[in-house]
Amino acid sequence: MELYKLECVICGAKYNANEVEYNCPACGDEGILDVIFDYEKIKSLYGTSFTDLVDTSVPTLWRYKKLLPVNLDSPVPESAVGFTPLYKAEMLRKHLGVSNLYIKDDGRNPTASLKDRASAVGIVKAMEKGVKTATCASTGNAACSFAYACAITGIKSHIFLPQTAPKAKIAQLLIYGANVIAIKDTYDRAYELAIEATKKWGWYNRNCAYNPYLVEGKKTVALEVIEQIGLDNPPDSIVISIGDGCICSSIGKAITDMYELGFISKVPRIIGVQASGCSPIYDAFNNGTEVIECVPDTIADSIAVGLPRNRFKAMKYLKKTNGIVEKVTDEEILNATRVLARKSGVFGEPAGTTAFAGYLKLLEKGTIGKDENVAVIITGNGLKDIDSAMKAVGKPHIIDPSIENVAKILNQS
Ligand SMILES: Cc1ncc(COP(=O)(O)O)c(C=O)c1O
Ligand SMILES: [Zn+2]
Repeated sequence: MELYKLECVICGAKYNANEVEYNCPACGDEGILDVIFDYEKIKSLYGTSFTDLVDTSVPTLWRYKKLLPVNLDSPVPESAVGFTPLYKAEMLRKHLGVSNLYIKDDGRNPTASLKDRASAVGIVKAMEKGVKTATCASTGNAACSFAYACAITGIKSHIFLPQTAPKAKIAQLLIYGANVIAIKDTYDRAYELAIEATKKWGWYNRNCAYNPYLVEGKKTVALEVIEQIGLDNPPDSIVISIGDGCICSSIGKAITDMYELGFISKVPRIIGVQASGCSPIYDAFNNGTEVIECVPDTIADSIAVGLPRNRFKAMKYLKKTNGIVEKVTDEEILNATRVLARKSGVFGEPAGTTAFAGYLKLLEKGTIGKDENVAVIITGNGLKDIDSAMKAVGKPHIIDPSIENVAKILNQS
């Protein structure tokens, strides 16, 4: 029984999963497909209660396998993706004078970013098809997660990314044995090259704004947030940063699943945050215009995306949840990185802490209330980009090792 259809985000045409591979044939590469579940069929097949549909004994994203577009009997690689901690962050709450803030630390995934969720689903789809070779374009994290997923399943990976990606991300790719093609240009050009290579050599493509199943993996982060906070008290808002717009779309997917299945009685709003030096979705959403390509200039490399590839899907779910899009400067991102680490212990990379910077800004403006139930998702770990972290902090004291020198630093003789 088909539990979902694929719907084009541009023309609305619907396809069965076996009819198309990636995009809407009528709309071409821009015609990204959205996986639309038939919730009535899901309920009649598995049951209607939360535990009928979610296997709460599984401590990974595969607890939601019945809500993912994979065969229920498909094997999944041994890998601890998902079910990352959600913190109440009491010290941070006290510092900000807020009462219902939650921090989701998704840098705790195997390759230290949320992207592991998408790659987990992508790799199972690839294994279902018997894929031997695959590709991905990335600002860094998606590729790291995919190189890892390919390594543990024996699939050859070819990765395209800008040569300016942080060194830690390039090291991750190389250590997992990917063929790393670092281009002397932006992520946007890397993306186009990966699509060209897919068409030329027939490789499996893991790009989240091309392959419709990847967003479904990412949605598990918000399924978790809603489950962890409690179905009877779902968040008012879920805050994430926006690059291509895939995570933003995926939050919309999770909210739709939870609401349509009757597990939550209100729709949390999506709050998307972009960097001021790269804010095409912010501009389009707030000005009511089309998304216009920009030249990115921000410390948050993972969201330095001039033309967000999943913009139609992201805008669809921002509108559907009555969402908000904010933008923040690099300085605000660095400040947020510091505050978050020092008050909650969560060390995020700039693209992750961009979400928290947006939260701080909207709290300050009064757009987010002090009692509002808000989950901020930190999408990547700070160790991924040490150079940026060092910009947020001072330098260590360097001394010859004597107690007198320590006393001098403490100003105590
Ligand atoms: C850490 C981190 N946060 C946020 C994003 C943005 O996600 P999306 O491109 O799906 O909008 C990315 C994408 O690379 C990322 O790596
Ligand atoms: Zn179409």
